[in-house]
Amino acid sequence: MEKSLFDIFIENYTYGKNYLITAPTGTGKTHIAKHLLTNTQEIVVYISPLKALSREVYRAVKEKRKSKYVDSDVYEDDLSKVDAEVLLTTYEKFDSTVRHNYRWLRRVSTVIIDEVHNVESDRGLAIENVVLWAKTNNVPIVALSATVPDVEKYREWLSAVLVKYEKRSVPLHECIVYPYVMRCYDDNRVFSIARRGLKNVKLDLLLGVLDWVLSIGKNALVFVKSRASAEHLADTLVKFNIPAQPYHSGLPYETREKVINDFTGNKVKVLVSTTALGQGVNLPVYTTIFYDLSLPESDERGEFKGWRDLDPSEFKQIAGRAGRRGFDNEGYAIVIAETAREMERIRQKYFTRGDGSTKNGNTLSTPYTLENLTLGVVAWAEGFVREEIDKVIKGSLRFRYSNVDPALSTLEKENLVREEAGSIYLTELGRAVALSYIDVSSLKGFPVNVDDFDALSVVSSSPEVLQALRGCTEGKELLRRWTNGEDILDVCKKLTAKDIEEVLSNSRWIAFALYRVLKALKHKKSQEAWNFYVSLKYGVPHSGVELAARKLHRGVVMKLLFMGVQKPEELCVVSKLHEIEKVLVSMGVGELEFCNPYLVRLADFVKENYGKEVEDVTAAIRTLINIGVIKREEGKLKWKEYKVMSSGNINDR
Ligand SMILES: Nc1ncnc2c1ncn2[C@@H]1O[C@H](COP(=O)(O)OP(=O)(O)OP(=O)(O)O)[C@@H](O)[C@H]1O
Ligand SMILES: [Mg+2]
Repeated sequence: MEKSLFDIFIENYTYGKNYLITAPTGTGKTHIAKHLLTNTQEIVVYISPLKALSREVYRAVKEKRKSKYVDSDVYEDDLSKVDAEVLLTTYEKFDSTVRHNYRWLRRVSTVIIDEVHNVESDRGLAIENVVLWAKTNNVPIVALSATVPDVEKYREWLSAVLVKYEKRSVPLHECIVYPYVMRCYDDNRVFSIARRGLKNVKLDLLLGVLDWVLSIGKNALVFVKSRASAEHLADTLVKFNIPAQPYHSGLPYETREKVINDFTGNKVKVLVSTTALGQGVNLPVYTTIFYDLSLPESDERGEFKGWRDLDPSEFKQIAGRAGRRGFDNEGYAIVIAETAREMERIRQKYFTRGDGSTKNGNTLSTPYTLENLTLGVVAWAEGFVREEIDKVIKGSLRFRYSNVDPALSTLEKENLVREEAGSIYLTELGRAVALSYIDVSSLKGFPVNVDDFDALSVVSSSPEVLQALRGCTEGKELLRRWTNGEDILDVCKKLTAKDIEEVLSNSRWIAFALYRVLKALKHKKSQEAWNFYVSLKYGVPHSGVELAARKLHRGVVMKLLFMGVQKPEELCVVSKLHEIEKVLVSMGVGELEFCNPYLVRLADFVKENYGKEVEDVTAAIRTLINIGVIKREEGKLKWKEYKVMSSGNINDR
């Protein structure tokens, strides 16, 4: 029997060297990663482009070694301590830990970079910085990819031993359907496809192919160009009695999880998906069918610009979801063509062994510029002299022929780095920018040189937020309502709940960066930026933040504010009052665990005495005065009045 990729790798592997493993989809690259994660001393790091992929690997290794999966926002400083032996996360999150220069990083024994070809996409900045850090600190790198465009270039960049494997362990047939035959180019077989005679020939062909797939008891992943197409086509298929479900990143996490389970459990036979099921995901797919071959393109403001063709590398990634080892002995990648010319074009572009070059498709937040990379490097290489930084940067893939001087000059001019006795350091501002993970040029949109600004406008007009808004022009209104605790249902109606989540998450990121930058500059309005960030975090106005921080839902907080309750202690002592108790119960708020027993005793006092005359003699009353439940007015003690709630005037999304 022929040796598997895994066996070849293990025979050749020596700890301490860097490896570049290139092998077709489904040959066991990630399988090797799992092996290394469970068999390497100290802390092993696994990074990939998708949370879903890192989570899948996490599930596979967590029983065997103490593992930590991280998917918190990239700018949050929450990784100062890692006591796990295996860390699984995204490129950007690990880059952020590198920029923090945490002590535990010295114990990292290997960094595994899955789907490393992404270095040439908009995710490149993070991969580059991680690689430069690893090379400089002699941390071994294991890089994996099925679609490296130029193997020799990558091998040199990584100073790696190349492990190249050409054969798919499960053969993947490459076929094109053209009215009404399916021809497979790898083995020249020809199938005829049933015809229903629909006017829509493309749909007719798809149905014919699916008839065949289902008749042999198999399943299919149908690729389409957009979320709307996924929803629409899945509906259509169901009308033709085909058990189909849409899958895309606009669906809530739970729905996606359920769809995947149903598909794995064979309840759903056909998944209609966007690139959301792109790279590295391991599902029991028998056929991938390309109903479309294009993807939407948007400009830097996130507005739709038009369609572009899948590039050969993207095509291979999607096609490779079929025929996974352990599930099937073969798989099919099938493209539906409507004309003979199209058929020839598809064959040339996707099925011949082209260069598979990866173009930079979508725009993303932190652009991959020399300035951004240099700042990222200085963050972990503080104190290096100019020449050393230049040498580090020359180890990058994109900037291997660049000189770092112009970038350092720009950074110095922007007051992000400073030179002292020949060595380069971050300034306070530079650290704020590097750790916030924002584009150096985003600073231009920040009000660093003006006294007056409003955080809402700055954040809602930042490129990062505009992009997440996908063309919705109501971003400012959306954030205004959100931070006021108001309903946001009818703003940006085209966006799904998941999209809105992304808008809010990017807004938090930029608001936090704004705060960090202003604080570094000792700007007098940094507190205001912080307040805005906190309001964004909880979706309530400043007055409700303390309540929201006690894990009360924003809807509950808004009702309490309306009634006149603002502080957690106040809530504790008045929660026994009839109207307030009613609201809490109606909203499913159980025990308020943060109220300590002392306050509970005080609550009983309030329940018995509310509205009655009281005198300033007991400690209880003095506490109630402090909390604001009892007020002193013209020498008299008066109970604060709480408004009775008419139900349903504050809604929540
Ligand atoms: N040597 C092996 N022994 C047992 N199972 C293996 C082996 N190699 C691969 N597999 C199984 O084959 C399937 C596909 O492997 P894996 O996901 O590692 O492929 P991959 O090369 O990473 O593909 P992709 O390029 O799509 O990410 C998995 O279910 C994996 O467990
Ligand atoms: Mg993989």
